Amino acid sequence: MEQNLRTPGPTPIPTAVRDAQAQQMIDHRGTEFEELLRETSAGLAELIGTSGDVLLLTGSGSGALEAAVVNTLSPGDRVLVVTIGSFGDRFAQIATAFGADVERFEVEWGDAADPEVLRQHLASSDAYHAVLITHNETSTGVANPLRALAEIVRGAPGDPLLLVDGISGLGAMPFEMDDWGVDLVVSASQKAWMASPGIAIAAIGERARAAGERASMPRFYWDFAEARTWASKGQTPWTPAISILYGLRIGVRRLREEGRERTWARHAAIATGVVAGIESLGLRPVAPEAHRSSTVTAAWLPDGIEWGQFNAAMRAKGLVIAGGQGKWTGRILRFGHMGDVGIDEMADALAIMGGTLPEFGHAADGAAAADAARAAYQQMTTGVR
Ligand SMILES: Cc1ncc(COP(=O)(O)O)c(C=O)c1O
Repeated sequence: MEQNLRTPGPTPIPTAVRDAQAQQMIDHRGTEFEELLRETSAGLAELIGTSGDVLLLTGSGSGALEAAVVNTLSPGDRVLVVTIGSFGDRFAQIATAFGADVERFEVEWGDAADPEVLRQHLASSDAYHAVLITHNETSTGVANPLRALAEIVRGAPGDPLLLVDGISGLGAMPFEMDDWGVDLVVSASQKAWMASPGIAIAAIGERARAAGERASMPRFYWDFAEARTWASKGQTPWTPAISILYGLRIGVRRLREEGRERTWARHAAIATGVVAGIESLGLRPVAPEAHRSSTVTAAWLPDGIEWGQFNAAMRAKGLVIAGGQGKWTGRILRFGHMGDVGIDEMADALAIMGGTLPEFGHAADGAAAADAARAAYQQMTTGVR
């Protein structure tokens, strides 16, 4: 049975990406690789909105988070981690593991960080060396108002660095690294970029690069200075995941062809469609409307439904979605919709879920949910409201 994979990464990858990833190996110290690396990083820089360096490293998104920390900070540096869910907590854990003096700016799960509250906090605290923020919190389906938060951080005492986990939003949601004053943002190939897992992406602004010269946290594999030296020759320091880079190049080409605004609008419209479908099934979305993620939709599990059994029943019908993480395990379900996705795949997923809910005592109409999703999507894409 064909799987309808609707987790928030890995995501289904286009056939052209699969074909590209199946190519024969090349020498990673040769000219073909140089072209591959240069085209992919330049395309990513354009999509992220930066004239700074984009380094492509072999590893997952968490590796990129670690790289962001160890290349900009020294043990004992005071940092503020704005956390609105499980991935914000991970950013804090990494900084703690490497000896930063971490303070958490915790927001209740399901909410976004409020720029005004952050402003007050920063104004009344001793200066921080860096502020770490998750753009799109995959564990709750909430998007932070990053542009506004970045503005607050830019005006904060001590002029802290702004390091952003952009892993599940970048490429799908509006992001202007240079204009917003983001110093460093990371992502990973398996998200909106439409490739398999394996390549970590780090976009590094000038202030973050300069901070690296002073930063003394231990690093070797993830050393940006080393990666930058090799990138200038069109290479990576260590043997890279060449196959994934082949796929990522195609994903980046496709996003450039679609155009950033169109990609962002498509994702926002799909998210609106998914929320309409979920509500039609009688489920309640987690995120407040103003802070809805365009790439992940989370909803509360109806009372009395046990996630493990419900999930198994959907998987038996080919639908693979995600459950809750950490303290929300068994409490929510999550749909991913990023990258190579249209409303039809999401309508199919909602129809399967709607067909499964009644088996668990929750009345629902899958076909009506699919229709509601399509209608809401169409309203957004045709501008009729
Ligand atoms: C916001 C966010 N941060 C970090 C990660 C961790 O990335 P990885 O699983 O590739 O290590 C993810 C992955 O889902 C994510 O969505």
